Amino acid sequence: MDFQLSQEHLMIREAAREFAQKELLPEVIERDEKQEFPQSLVQKMAEMGFMGMMVDPKYNGQGMDTIAYVLVMEELSKVDPSASVIVSVQNSLVCWAIETFGTEEQKQKYLTKLATGEIIGAFCLSEPEAGSDATQQRTTAEPKNGYYLLNGVKNWITNAQRAGIYLVFAQSNPEAGHRGINCFIVEREWKGVSVGKKENKMGLRGSDTHSMLFTDVEVPAENRLGEEGQGFKIAMKTLDGGRIGIAAQALGIASGAFELALQYAKTRKAFGKPIIEHQAIQFKLADMAVKIENARLLCLKAAWDKDQGNPYTLSASMAKLYAATIANEVTREAVQIHGGYGYVKEYHVERLMRDAKITEIYEGTSEIQRIVIARQLAKLYG
Ligand code: CAA
Repeated sequence: MDFQLSQEHLMIREAAREFAQKELLPEVIERDEKQEFPQSLVQKMAEMGFMGMMVDPKYNGQGMDTIAYVLVMEELSKVDPSASVIVSVQNSLVCWAIETFGTEEQKQKYLTKLATGEIIGAFCLSEPEAGSDATQQRTTAEPKNGYYLLNGVKNWITNAQRAGIYLVFAQSNPEAGHRGINCFIVEREWKGVSVGKKENKMGLRGSDTHSMLFTDVEVPAENRLGEEGQGFKIAMKTLDGGRIGIAAQALGIASGAFELALQYAKTRKAFGKPIIEHQAIQFKLADMAVKIENARLLCLKAAWDKDQGNPYTLSASMAKLYAATIANEVTREAVQIHGGYGYVKEYHVERLMRDAKITEIYEGTSEIQRIVIARQLAKLYG
């Protein structure tokens, strides 16, 4: 067993750390306040190679492994989780699904542009009445002669307004239940595709979240991803990898807040000494650090499983459940260590505390992760 990161991993982590400090930090508070999508930063993240990190270079990607992706996600998320979620959806949900299940034509047409960041993608699974219970898709894709007629509404879609393509899940054969669900690559410019209401969110306010409306959209049959009826499995397999990205995001939120709290505790004096010399603060910092280290090991283990070709449903859900839980605990403590300063925007920790909450909700709530974990354990030890 080797816990040492390779030179390449250390370099990519350093590059992401520098990028986050130099490019993401300066206006992160303003973007949060104004709910402003970091458009120019997306371009810069693309130039850094962050938009197609794990894509094969033959489709314009960086050909990196999942460990490198986790390292980058942690560093970006320490500073701006609204920017890192763009990277996460692009890499784990959209690029990975097309590279894994797409035809050569689909890869040439879409993946080559996604991998360079020329276009952004979005993942449209959730619906007003199908969130955790993703089998209950109300969006329909009626098979016609050479195309599918797509109708429905999707909710909570990250990147919705900025995306050039959408992976849309829809029911084509209700009698077959989840085995009737298909996944389609839908282009933004097609007739009948429209962006709905923007959500005014508690956290991740710089990311772009809307509902999406699909009205009599004619989707060519060649834009179905995977085999007929394979859509639900594509969603589940894709979310396994997505959960590694969100676990790394939660880890980054926690470690970002921890680093701020540590610095603050070293400089802030109370009762005649820096507060880090008070046991009450030492206990907090020690507990935070142990939780973060645990979360990091779980994230890297899940990434390693994926890179080795091992099953990773279990390790991804464990990493996401744990990292999301501790991100909420650690950010709350970081605010507490800052006292009154923690409650105001300039010190960043209140924003990270708000941003942490979504990691317990999206890409499967913490309750869903427990269900996935328990079912995997039952399979392993049943
Ligand atoms: N890999 C491969 N196949 C899988 C799978 C996996 N990880 N998980 C389930 N399946 C397969 C099952 O084997 C089963 O296959 P068969 O047809 O052969 O029987 C089929 O899928 C149905 O599985 P289940 O019976 O387990 O389905 P279920 O309805 O009982 O539960 C669930 C599944 C785990 C609860 C699932 O619905 C789930 O993960 N829900 C949460 C949805 C979610 O994460 N949504 C996130 C939205 S995207 C988002 O948030 C992105 C963003 O913008 C940031």
